[in-house]
Amino acid sequence: MFEVWNKKTIERLSNVKKQQWFDVLNYRLEEDRDISLDDSELITKQKEIKDDYIKYLESCPYQDNFFKYYVFIEDDIIVSVCRINMINDRYILEGLQTHKDYFHKGYAMKLINHMMYDLKKEGITTIYSEVRTWNNVSHAFHHKLGFIQYGKENQNYLFQLDVNTSIRRQLFDTWASGYHHSVISSKKLGTYPFAGYSELKYRIFELITQYQKTSILDMGVGDGKMIMPLYQLGYTITGIDLSLNMIELAKSNMPNASFIHGEFHEAISLLNQCYDAIVFSYAIHHLTYHDQIDLLLSLNQYLHEEGMIIIGDVSTKTQHEMELLREKYIDIWDDEEYYPIESIYQQSELIKHYVISYVKINDVAAIFQFTKKLGIES
Ligand SMILES: C[S@@+](CC[C@H](N)C(=O)[O-])C[C@H]1O[C@@H](n2cnc3c(N)ncnc32)[C@H](O)[C@@H]1O
Repeated sequence: MFEVWNKKTIERLSNVKKQQWFDVLNYRLEEDRDISLDDSELITKQKEIKDDYIKYLESCPYQDNFFKYYVFIEDDIIVSVCRINMINDRYILEGLQTHKDYFHKGYAMKLINHMMYDLKKEGITTIYSEVRTWNNVSHAFHHKLGFIQYGKENQNYLFQLDVNTSIRRQLFDTWASGYHHSVISSKKLGTYPFAGYSELKYRIFELITQYQKTSILDMGVGDGKMIMPLYQLGYTITGIDLSLNMIELAKSNMPNASFIHGEFHEAISLLNQCYDAIVFSYAIHHLTYHDQIDLLLSLNQYLHEEGMIIIGDVSTKTQHEMELLREKYIDIWDDEEYYPIESIYQQSELIKHYVISYVKINDVAAIFQFTKKLGIES
């Protein structure tokens, strides 16, 4: 069970809840205060620590920068807690802690996942976090949650997390096992969003084999089924994906491929080679148009001179056509996705760096091919 404690909730908290909250945080607190466990006054000092903590909790409703506590409960026991404070207009994640008897059971992840929906409801788009440079466990956990490290200050690494990206990661983790089934039923019905999936798969295969491209970067690789025919022909595949469950499926389909778990922008900063082909199939639409253009421009440096970017997706030539498509499928349309529109790309910075060709597959899907304009600095 998940609970949100705002200022009002904290004012009314029962002593049992306060005690349970403290039990979660009561892990090596003596060590933090340089108190030896052999100290003759250990019990008194432990009581002082507890009093300080409870005093802090009770003061939260009166602190301007306090936003909310988030709490995960299992069998009536609080097992994981964290809070969000607002400092200099930024929402900061603090005090994430799981009860020592419940470590390694995924409770912190569940807590954060639930919290994201509350933050989204509140209209909060980004949260920040600071981690001590030597705290490797916390780094790894931040990466697992999808946090991106954007700097270092004194003894802390600075992290940020996009709330929508975090929710998308959860959705794809949950959807992973049923994803292929959804594709099959949508394409069988010939309806949005996957009408044209098989045709796109064939066209991507054809484009890449025709030019004998051998190294392929699949952005948003999903379960790997789209790119698998090329893997089976011996092409070298690197897959990037936000969802660990999707990567696990892709790995089982393509055991010798390489994978990077992470958000597109962060993952490409880890690349150390150029590719013959970079493929997005049904994946780039998770970014806003601004971020799509930004990412496509950044990818220029990872593309061989003769290389190409291929985008296969729900797509139209113009915004007006996209509006008509949306009306046609209004009952099932996803308004949180930004399907590629040819005119938006053609009117952007992209045309300075790429020649863009566009082929409609059917009324829902289309395929873009970007080839590098040579002699242009990226
Ligand atoms: C609809 S699936 C498409 C999977 C596969 N390419 C296909 O054609 O079947 C989109 C995939 O993109 C991944 N994804 C979405 N947004 C992402 C992002 N910002 N960074 C990395 N992966 C992302 C999702 O986790 C998901 O696996």
